[in-house]
This record gives sequence, C-alpha cells and structure tokens, in this order.
Amino acid sequence: MKKHLFINGEWVEGTTYNDLLSPYNGEKIAEVPVATRDEVDHAIMAAHGAVPMMTALPLHKRAHILERVCQLLEERKEEAAMIIATEAAKPIATAREEVIRTYQTYKFAAEEAKRIHGEIIPMGAVPNGDGRIAYTLREPIGVIGAITPFNFPMNLVAHKVGPAIAAGNTVVLKPARQTPLSALFIAKLFEEAGLPKGALNVVTGNGNTIGTRIVKDPRVQMVTFTGSPAVGKSIHHLAGLKKVTLELGSNSGVIIDRDVDISNIITRCVTGAFSYQGQVCISLQRIYVHKEVYDAFVERFVEETKKLKIGNPLDADVHLSALISTKDVERSLEWIEEAKSHGAKVVAGGYAEGNMLYPTVLVDVPSQAKVSCQEAFAPIVLINRVSSIEDAIQCVNDSQFGLQAGIYTNNIRTAMNAANELKVGGVMINDIPTYRVDHMPYGGVKESGTGREGVKYAIEEMTEMKLIVINNNY
Ligand code: SIN
Repeated sequence: MKKHLFINGEWVEGTTYNDLLSPYNGEKIAEVPVATRDEVDHAIMAAHGAVPMMTALPLHKRAHILERVCQLLEERKEEAAMIIATEAAKPIATAREEVIRTYQTYKFAAEEAKRIHGEIIPMGAVPNGDGRIAYTLREPIGVIGAITPFNFPMNLVAHKVGPAIAAGNTVVLKPARQTPLSALFIAKLFEEAGLPKGALNVVTGNGNTIGTRIVKDPRVQMVTFTGSPAVGKSIHHLAGLKKVTLELGSNSGVIIDRDVDISNIITRCVTGAFSYQGQVCISLQRIYVHKEVYDAFVERFVEETKKLKIGNPLDADVHLSALISTKDVERSLEWIEEAKSHGAKVVAGGYAEGNMLYPTVLVDVPSQAKVSCQEAFAPIVLINRVSSIEDAIQCVNDSQFGLQAGIYTNNIRTAMNAANELKVGGVMINDIPTYRVDHMPYGGVKESGTGREGVKYAIEEMTEMKLIVINNNY
C-alpha cells in the first residue's frame, strides 16, 4: 500500500506521503510519496548521469527492452486494468482497452526504435554543393521531463516514455497526482525488462512544485506535457529555449450533414461524448446537425444516452463512473447552470449523485456559454441546429482550440471542403473527433498545443537532427 519513488533504478522511500483516495467512493487506495526538492534533484541527476549510457545503447537493445515491457504487460494485463480503474475511476471495460492500447504503444516504440534514420541531402542541386556528400543523423536529446495527466494514466505515460527510450533518451516522469499507480507499475515493468539504471525515474507528488522544478532545471533538455491549456502555457513560458511538446485541451466538434443516416451514427456519437465521463482531450463536446435531420438526431441521441449505466468503475457493465474530483463535479454543474442562463435547455442529465455527473445533453447553446467555448472535460455535450455545412464549419472553427474535428457526410466534395477548412490538427471524415490509434500523428493547433505525438512523430520531436557534410574537393 505504501508506494516508493523510482530513482536511479532504486525504489526509494518518500520523506512525506499523501493518501490516495478513490474518486468513486473516497476509500484509501494507497500512500504515495510527495517528492521533495532533493528527491526531484536526485531523479534529474540520475537521468542526466544515464544519458551517455542510453545514447550508446544500440537500437536493437532499446527495442528489446520495449518488447520485453510488452510481454510483461501482457502477462499482467488484468492487474494493469484494475490499477487504472481504481485510481482513475475509469470503467473497467474502458480501462482494459487502455491496457491494450498501452501494449500497442510500446510495441510501436520497439518497432520504431529500429527505424530511426536520417536522410541523404542532394548537394549537387546547387553549384556550391558540387563534390560534397551530406547526410543527417537523429541524435537523442538527453533528459526528457515528462508530465502526464490522469485521464489515460498508462497509455499517455507510454506515449512519452516509449518514444523517449526508443530514441535513446532518459526520462524524469511526473505522473498526475491522482493517478501515480499506473506510472509506478510501468516503471516496475521497465526495471524487470532490464532498462539501465537512471534511464527512467518516477517522482510523484504535488504537480506544481515538482513540475516547475523539472521544467526549469537546465539538465532537462525537453519537456513533454499533456494536460490543461493553463498549465501548458505556463510550461511554455518557463521552459525558455527547451524543446516542448504540449498536448492540451479542446472542445471538439462534429458536423452532421443532412444526407446522413442518423441510425448508423448515434451510438458512436454517444460513445464519443461520454466515454470515460468525457474526460478525454478529444471528447465530443459540440455537435452541429443540419436542420433537416436535427430533431431526429436529438431524439435518438437522448434515447441512447438514457440507456447508459452509471456506477462503480469495477462493474463490467458500467459505462460511466465518478469524475476525477468533487471540484470538477461542482464546476460542471455551475457551467450547466450558466448555459441555462444563456437560454440553453437540458434534455438529459444535468444533475449529479456524489462525484457522478449524469451524462448531460444540452440544446440551443449559445457559443459564449462555457460548455461551448471552454473545455468541459466532463460528460456534457451540446447539440445545435445549423442551416448549412458552411455554418457548421464556422461554428467548429469558432474556438480557441483546434485538436480534432469530425464530419459525417455522404458528399465527397463536402468532406474534402471540411478537411481543408477545419482549423484543427486532425479531421475525421465519417467519424467522431474522439478517434485515436497510437501510431497516428496526434496534436493540435491554436490553444490545443504544439508538436505531435504518435510514436514515430514523438521520436522526431525527441531527437535532434545533426548534419554531416563531407567535402570531396579537399
Ligand atoms: C487525450 O485525452 O489527450 C488522449 C486521447 C486518447 O489517447 O485517446
């Protein structure tokens, strides 16, 4: 029950501890160390010291360690799912999916480790290049500070640690305060897989102080963060000239064209809005439906929403459980009231029991309401009527965020026009924005962040390009 920090390949007892409580029933799950300034410093020192060893580790050895992590995870997959479900209140069926994805992310990292390469530059393209041969290498960056969120406590750790190790870097990982157990579990797998000491260090505790130390320390060469836009901006500010990858929030939208067979897409849209209680960066938050199919869509959507089962995350048939904190439940209820005061109507949910907010559907929501223009990160979705797809595109783009968006249409021109016009990192045609597989490029524009994840793309972010030019005229 008492957890340890993972520093320089050792499990180190903490100086002070926090109780980790279940978001679902408040029961104590574990005691988690709150890393002190010295402990964070030791973790960074260990990561820094391990850089030469990791840089020199051949690609096949990096790949082998990552493959071994996959095998160990496969052997302990049910334990892994239980950890996620318990600490994050993620319904167990969804937690099991996350474990499968985590396996795939490390598998991609193992495969990509063997494909890290540069390119030959055609120097003869200009007279000044005659007689020269040039090529690029991709070198590890060094120490990477990884700060991960609560919502995918295992797979979003994998998206940072997997590519970092594949690329020959070392890591100081600070998992979210509510979900440290998944990260510590993975550290144990890396230890068993034979990762060199110091290559992965896990420091748990208070996000602000530990995160700030990691970001500001000159030995840390890059910061990769997934979380809120507010924290992302402050990291960007503090990081100075360090490389940063920021995967931040969004209020993702989908557009439904008039020619779409509504019955084919309702279940998918309901899943996109309410999976893991809407606590997903690409959760479907705004639905813009053509006026010709609007009434039918709302009716069917509400009908499906009311079938969802809310309860204990460990029950196999539960679809939604508790939000991550009481504060988030209170904030969500305030936002729903605020939307109502702007003229929105609640057609499903809108109330909470304990930390469980019932899946909430709002209609006629003006764009200035917080549930529309900010990231809800809760089981709240709005469905608004639009007169044309052009209007719908404008509504989706009328956002400070731009992570992913979706459009359902049977018209190829409409689809391609939306692909061009939507100001986001990824457009899903005939799907919801809540779609991700772990090797695709993933990231946003505007306040949704900077840089891309998806293992191959994260490796590009986590390596420096070096140019070699050979002068044959010498
Ligand atoms: C996120 O919430 O940023 C990640 C979504 C996902 O990996 O499916």
